[in-house]
Amino acid sequence: MLSQQDLKQQAADAALALIKPLLTPQAVIGVGTGSTADLFIDGLASYRSRFRGAVASSERSAKRLTGLGILVLDLNEVQTMPVYVDGADEINSQLHMIKGGGGALTREKIVSSVAQQFICIADESKLVDSLGHFPLPIEVLPMAREAVARVARQLGGNPVLREGFITDNGNQILDVHGLQITQASEMERQLNNVPGVVTNGLFAIRPADIALLATQQGIRRLG
Ligand code: 5RP
Repeated sequence: MLSQQDLKQQAADAALALIKPLLTPQAVIGVGTGSTADLFIDGLASYRSRFRGAVASSERSAKRLTGLGILVLDLNEVQTMPVYVDGADEINSQLHMIKGGGGALTREKIVSSVAQQFICIADESKLVDSLGHFPLPIEVLPMAREAVARVARQLGGNPVLREGFITDNGNQILDVHGLQITQASEMERQLNNVPGVVTNGLFAIRPADIALLATQQGIRRLG
């Protein structure tokens, strides 16, 4: 029986195998955040001489990349990336995701938006029939916290401030419990339109292109 850690490793290895042909001297790789993304970063280090560098979706990942000798570029210096690789907190069969358990949702959404392909890596426990069991993170400007929380309550959710946590952008996170997310793109748009919301953790308007989900029987590919 493979442990969850083994499964994460399997997903990270599968992503590396998939992106190997994309590693050219000009290529810049988009890199996500979290324990699965960390394993991907560790594997990517073996190929560091084959590509130009990476754009990181968090200070945490940037530090790990730099520590392993991979050049970290500012997104403003990069016009395009062949691929962005990241984990997810939940993913459904349409490859819509909830992300932001690690609090990096805003930079994840920005960096992935510039990549040609989004590859989601996760163990199969992240695959769900409907999104919302995992609390939906919303990054908010601190002064808008209560105003955004009221809107989240109107949508049927129970927002909880992530205590003691400040994002890399200097903002706060509301984790919204109990949402029934049936129309993910609509809810993503609706939340984006609330003043003071920086980003919400729904990745449905731009879903993953490929999901590599590690199971006890091997990798299950969606997309
Ligand atoms: C961080 C994220 C991560 O991708 C998500 O939390 C999954 O993390 P892990 O690979 O540790 O399970 O969105 O903001």
